Amino acid sequence: MSVRIAPSILAADFARLGEQVALVAGAGAGVIHVDVMDGHFVPNITMGPLVVSALSRVTTLPLDVHLMISDPNQYLDAFAKAGAATITVHAEATVHLHRTLARIRQLGARAGVAINPGTPVEVLREVVDLLDQVLVMSVNPGFGGQSFIPRSLDKVRAVRALAAGAGHPIDIEVDGGVDLTNAGDLAQAGATILVAGVSIFGQPDPAAATRALQQAADAGAARA
Ligand code: DX5
Ligand code: ZN
Repeated sequence: MSVRIAPSILAADFARLGEQVALVAGAGAGVIHVDVMDGHFVPNITMGPLVVSALSRVTTLPLDVHLMISDPNQYLDAFAKAGAATITVHAEATVHLHRTLARIRQLGARAGVAINPGTPVEVLREVVDLLDQVLVMSVNPGFGGQSFIPRSLDKVRAVRALAAGAGHPIDIEVDGGVDLTNAGDLAQAGATILVAGVSIFGQPDPAAATRALQQAADAGAARA
């Protein structure tokens, strides 16, 4: 699997969202990452299905929806209907993870599970058959612009080992503090999607930043 860059619109200029997405799409971004926060599972509040559906009208890139919300089951239909290509729920936020993932697939979306820095990879084992994507949180969720937790590299390797036995392709996404200093190592460790907020939209030239991250990731993947 080649590595795709997933700009996180959390760090974008919300008054010019369409333009910002077009900018990174033109620079080769592979997916658009949408951070949904509810002020309960995480301290921050961000956006909902309305933004996903607005984005789906202005981009052909897959919309990668990261639900940092309590009781995600309540909103799966709304996000699928809004045009989410992938819906990722937190393992820590849903009691019946197996049922939740089955429901996401039933709605026609790809199913993802996110794990916090404090959550072991082991929680993924019994749902591996239903997984299209694993999101390794490399910061504690809730805010953009935090520092990458170095131990996440080991976690990516552990997820890669687990995914290798699945019998179907599983994307491994890393989210939080991804930048030019770690993108190569993450790709080498097995990451296939790199989420980047501040290191793209916080830069003076988000298009150039996207291309630079892609290059760093490709170089790392070539070392794998
Ligand atoms: C954090 C979010 C991330 C965030 C990453 O809770 O899930 O997607 O946008 O931002 P950066 O890349 O700035 O750490
Ligand atoms: Zn995210």
